[in-house]
Amino acid sequence: MTSYLVTGASRGIGLEFIRQLSQDSKNTVIALVRNAAKSVYLQEVSDLPNVHVVEGDVTSVETMQKAAEEVAAITGGSLDYIIENAGGIYGSDTSLADPSNDLASLVNELKGNFELNAVSGVITTNAFLPLLRKGKAKKIILISSAIGDIQFTRTTGFAGNAPYGVGKAALNFIAQKYAVELADEGFVVLALSPGLVDTSSTKEGEQTQPSEEDLKKFQAIFDQWVKSQPDWDRKPLTVQDSVSKQLKVISAVGPNDSGKLLSQNGNTAWL
Ligand SMILES: NC(=O)c1ccc[n+]([C@@H]2O[C@H](COP(=O)([O-])OP(=O)(O)OC[C@H]3O[C@@H](n4cnc5c(N)ncnc54)[C@H](OP(=O)(O)O)[C@@H]3O)[C@@H](O)[C@H]2O)c1
Repeated sequence: MTSYLVTGASRGIGLEFIRQLSQDSKNTVIALVRNAAKSVYLQEVSDLPNVHVVEGDVTSVETMQKAAEEVAAITGGSLDYIIENAGGIYGSDTSLADPSNDLASLVNELKGNFELNAVSGVITTNAFLPLLRKGKAKKIILISSAIGDIQFTRTTGFAGNAPYGVGKAALNFIAQKYAVELADEGFVVLALSPGLVDTSSTKEGEQTQPSEEDLKKFQAIFDQWVKSQPDWDRKPLTVQDSVSKQLKVISAVGPNDSGKLLSQNGNTAWL
């Protein structure tokens, strides 16, 4: 059996990792969620014999240490792969120098995104490291974003999502720091960007069509992002497509990739 833990598995990309990984009965798949009873979309797979659900908040040391004890009881003390997917935009999608910003709110968003998208990576990794050290694969995957990539920002001129980008940039560096520290133990640590992914099917109330105003805003953002990849079709990936591509990357990466930020394509084609 190969064991996988996926955080943020109640919906979106995390849930799709659980769906795809659980299709192989030789995998033991553990879904970490904040609230199992409220994870309604997960219920369609949580009854499968190779799926286990564990609760924890990735920003809480106490709950993640308790989750690690529960996972050890399920797997017999080891863990092969961890996919640290929980995260997202804390607050708005603001830039840093927007004159309409209230400075106190901006600082709050910077701290919130740093905690949710970067500090959580250290809490989760360290809580599960004793299990991962006993695992066979020794792969630690931190789900990140090109929004936290300096070159993507330079190429596109995209100033938005700044507090989130700061959090993901820190996460990318955290991947590099773990990569060098754990290299001698045979670990591969990767920051992995899933692409632009449509997760609306597992978000309550978000299946409605975007407004004209939203569409104009998206188009203006896409006009910037396309500069990083001129052949981009301006369409988000389906969650199924993004996750199957990410799983291929996770399987293919080796020591030479450790510490990198790669896209769902296994390179720097982010979209
Ligand atoms: N979708 C995209 O286009 C895209 C692009 C680039 C990067 N990403 C990254 O990919 C990851 C997944 O994104 P997504 O679009 O699937 O997001 P999503 O649909 O908003 O789902 C986020 C997941 O994270 C969980 N979560 C949030 N805060 C948590 C916490 N403190 N502790 C434990 N779980 C927590 C949520 O649980 P609850 O149900 O309890 O809220 C949910 O399961 C994120 O790291 C995101 O930054 C996404």
